[in-house]
Amino acid sequence: MNFDIKPLTPADQPFLWEKLYQAIYIPEGQPPYDRNILHIPELRIYAEHWGKPDDIGFIALADEKPAGAVWLRMLTGEPRGFGYVDDTTPELSIALLPEYRGKGFGSQLMTHLFECVKSRYGAICLSVSMNNPAMRLYQRMGFEVVSESDDSYTMVKRLDKER
Ligand SMILES: CC(C)(COP(=O)(O)OP(=O)(O)OC[C@H]1O[C@@H](n2cnc3c(N)ncnc32)[C@H](O)[C@@H]1OP(=O)(O)O)[C@@H](O)C(=O)NCCC(=O)NCCS
Repeated sequence: MNFDIKPLTPADQPFLWEKLYQAIYIPEGQPPYDRNILHIPELRIYAEHWGKPDDIGFIALADEKPAGAVWLRMLTGEPRGFGYVDDTTPELSIALLPEYRGKGFGSQLMTHLFECVKSRYGAICLSVSMNNPAMRLYQRMGFEVVSESDDSYTMVKRLDKER
């Protein structure tokens, strides 16, 4: 399979909404959420009006078809992102279509993103449900747990160490 990466643009907005929906963790045995969940302000902020000055994201293309996306956004306003740590740290989101998971695409997308932003940001944050297997991937990619709430961790990857 041919794998490629291209920047996420405002024209990709519908795909981005789809990826945001797929990034929401569904505990085992629980039915999928209604798609209207994307309208709640706490989630909407992750995707709406893609293409703001600080937005940086990439789409994975598998044989030229969109397979997934990784994106960074400053979620420092009201409401803040779930993974908020401070006003200078952007938050990462990532999701792949189910058929493309577990093939290394997520790792490649993140590596590409880190390379692109390491001179611009000192760190990246995220929020992940404690039971989400993605936790292992984040740890391998250098994220560390900095705090926890009832069912999720806030994780931070320092980029200033990699300069
Ligand atoms: C998380 C995700 C982007 C990783 O991309 P990927 O291409 O599958 O990851 P890679 O193949 O590079 O690495 C494999 C790792 O991905 C994670 N992973 C694999 N399948 C997964 C799945 N269905 N759900 C969550 N994480 C998964 C695991 O940590 C796995 O590591 P392991 O082999 O030690 O278990 C992708 O699996 C996905 O879209 N999952 C569903 C959405 C999601 O959970 N997003 C994160 C929200 S915080």
